[in-house]
Amino acid sequence: MASPAPTFSSIDDVMERLARLGYIADRRIATALFLADRMHKPILVEGPAGCGKTELAKVAAASLGTELIRLQCYEGLDEAKALYEWEYPKQLLYTQVLRDKIGEVLAGAATLREAVERLVAQEDAFFSENFLLPRPLLRAIRADRRVVLLIDEVDRAEAEFEAFLLEVLSDFQVSIPELGTIRAAHVPMVILTSNNAREMTDALKRRCLYLHLSYPDAAREQAIVAARLPDAAPALIAEVVRVVQALRRLDLKKLPSISETLEWTRALAVLNAEHIDRDLCEQTLNLVLKYEGDLSRARDELDRILSVRP
Ligand SMILES: Nc1ncnc2c1ncn2[C@@H]1O[C@H](COP(=O)(O)OP(=O)(O)OP(=O)(O)O)[C@@H](O)[C@H]1O
Ligand SMILES: [Mg+2]
Repeated sequence: MASPAPTFSSIDDVMERLARLGYIADRRIATALFLADRMHKPILVEGPAGCGKTELAKVAAASLGTELIRLQCYEGLDEAKALYEWEYPKQLLYTQVLRDKIGEVLAGAATLREAVERLVAQEDAFFSENFLLPRPLLRAIRADRRVVLLIDEVDRAEAEFEAFLLEVLSDFQVSIPELGTIRAAHVPMVILTSNNAREMTDALKRRCLYLHLSYPDAAREQAIVAARLPDAAPALIAEVVRVVQALRRLDLKKLPSISETLEWTRALAVLNAEHIDRDLCEQTLNLVLKYEGDLSRARDELDRILSVRP
């Protein structure tokens, strides 16, 4: 049997392991991950888009040297897609290929009832492991070592799905009528993310550690860009971050996230820019702001923003 995944030894250990993977966490983030690991409690990570929620789960798995199993939530997601379903096309194919054999089993049945009963007696063959299609939750429960289970964008699924999720998260066991009860040998580390499209229920929040991931301060944002884009010049990174941080103080429809800071730095590096002057800023600001209203508001403020020195 595979050995259980290693756990974090301290909060500093979390920060160091994540940093080695290019994820710059502050102590609050590292503490949440450390506690989730030690207390076997899920973390609910909420916050605006592009601020590192999904990435946190990916690096948590990588830093523990374990598999990441991802359940992407969407409107209409149901138990069958999240937990397991029977592989109907395969069952059908087998019944066709085995038509003769099934004919033999049914041969001589005097009545329809007798034929059905004979077929029922063979049901196990078709509702067995061979025809089971495990979905992410079941895969995480059956894993032979501790995995990280990412339940991504849980706010996109309906409230009924959340209730079902609570059940799974409370005992990590599932009952498959045809196969019996399966209980997790290794409770996964669970990270749920939400963009706040819908408020999560108190019951879910009670079960989870809560982590709000929002925009980083300038120092952490510079460290993030430097970690992700090691070839970018530190002076350019500092300038990009200063402008982005100033843009976030404007009253915009969509504030720029870490993703946009990274994209902008990448673009400026492609353009061989050494620093951001007004023209360059105007020409490339569409990498940072994606609404015309936001762009025009930012253009009105550009002189002030660019004149601010650290
Ligand atoms: N602390 C961090 N250290 C390094 N990179 C980060 C950090 N936070 C975010 N990033 C980078 O920012 C980008 C966006 O992160 P991610 O996709 O995890 O955001 P998200 O919060 O899941 O967004 P969404 O809500 O849109 O799914 C990724 O490229 C990620 O690597
Ligand atoms: Mg995400």
